Amino acid sequence: MTSSKNGPTSAVLAAEPRDFSKSRALTPKAHRLIPGGAHTYAKGDDQYPEAAPGFIARGKGCHVWDLDGNEFIEYGMGLRAVTLGHAFEPVLEAAYKQMQLGINFSRPSKIEVDLAEAMLEVIDGAEMVKFAKNGSDATTAAVKLARAYTGRDLVAICGDQPFFSIDDWFIGTTEMNAGIPDAIREMTLKFRFNDIESLQALFDQFPAKIACVVLEAEAAAAPFKGYLSQIKELCERRGAVLIFDEMITGFRWHLGGAQQFHGVVPHLSTFGKAMGNGFAISALMGKREIMRLGGLDHDQARVFLLSTTHGAETHSLGASLETIRIYRHENVVEFLWKQGERLRTRINRSIAQNRIEGFFELIGRPCNLVYATRDQDRNPSQVFRTLFMQELIRRGVIAPSFVVSFSHSDDDIDRTAEAVDQALELYRRALEGGVEKYVLGRPVKPVNRRHN
Ligand SMILES: Cc1ncc(COP(=O)(O)O)c(C=O)c1O
Repeated sequence: MTSSKNGPTSAVLAAEPRDFSKSRALTPKAHRLIPGGAHTYAKGDDQYPEAAPGFIARGKGCHVWDLDGNEFIEYGMGLRAVTLGHAFEPVLEAAYKQMQLGINFSRPSKIEVDLAEAMLEVIDGAEMVKFAKNGSDATTAAVKLARAYTGRDLVAICGDQPFFSIDDWFIGTTEMNAGIPDAIREMTLKFRFNDIESLQALFDQFPAKIACVVLEAEAAAAPFKGYLSQIKELCERRGAVLIFDEMITGFRWHLGGAQQFHGVVPHLSTFGKAMGNGFAISALMGKREIMRLGGLDHDQARVFLLSTTHGAETHSLGASLETIRIYRHENVVEFLWKQGERLRTRINRSIAQNRIEGFFELIGRPCNLVYATRDQDRNPSQVFRTLFMQELIRRGVIAPSFVVSFSHSDDDIDRTAEAVDQALELYRRALEGGVEKYVLGRPVKPVNRRHN
């Protein structure tokens, strides 16, 4: 048995069918009790091949063990929230220390101010911050604040980016919009990324009606030079609030977020995921002039801004303070980019060796790598995605993406690259001889679709 800093790794890379019998036995019960069988769609059965672990029992670093005891190297970890590693000791200790002191009181705790100060130190252009439990609440609060500040109703979102919130103003624009009234759906408009004219056209079509522009400063595609400052300038000229959703980019592109990385400070921005290494914590941040509408020191109409029972649970704030401390002292962001680059180089070499350029492709920055799978006609293919994920799982790697963490050691990356190399060899054979004979069971599906 070999071992890494993340624990024993004997099971990794043995390309053999695994025993998922305990997971299989629990699955029907999960679906009987929980719509979708899981509390997050992106973790659902339809997102994974049939030959996949159904339930995770525990994790350490970037390794996880399923209910049947199978061990895997994991990517994407907690939908990109766990950037340091599972069960990361210093963060656990910081959270536990707060739990022992009590987690929720009748009045605020000092740690609310401590974390506010720490967040405002790392996010350069922001002047005030308010915490919540998840990213959707923070982004929805940014939209509400912008509406109150501008006295306008419409919201312009980047239509090429996949997700901003579970709330109606965003989900209403997707395929999965059942239950959302037309009146709400009509209040959200879409523009195209890297196409300033498409945003300009919305402002022209709805003069003095757009409250805010919501986008990720960077997602799969990088912004053209000058694009983000053009958007900011356009927003200011047209009296709209610019909101950057930094849920993914925050603490990954740069400790100061994509706004620091690209040198464009929005009026409001929202953070979550990485800021607590998986603990439930998010933040709405921005200019005092706008944020203060949620406060006690103005004479305008009051905005009900993110006031929730659990919003400032002390253990999540403690976890976040420690996460920020580690980021500042350990060059975490640099490490994420370095390990992502190591993996990208190896995978690109395998793609070239297997001559499957254009069929399998890595997309995005090294700190946030995702992949595209295409069939023999070069059309996007869920069946080929299923095959690829299935073959990685057989080799001990769970990779809905290749998003790395601070716990992905060189050894983990190299083992993954080996597994990918073998999976891509099979991918090439499937392109040549038909994918059906290699895929075990039904294909995976996109989360956001109208029907099952
Ligand atoms: C870019 C982006 N914004 C917002 C959210 C919503 O965050 P949460 O799931 O914490 O509500 C997500 C979640 O995946 C996201 O990726």
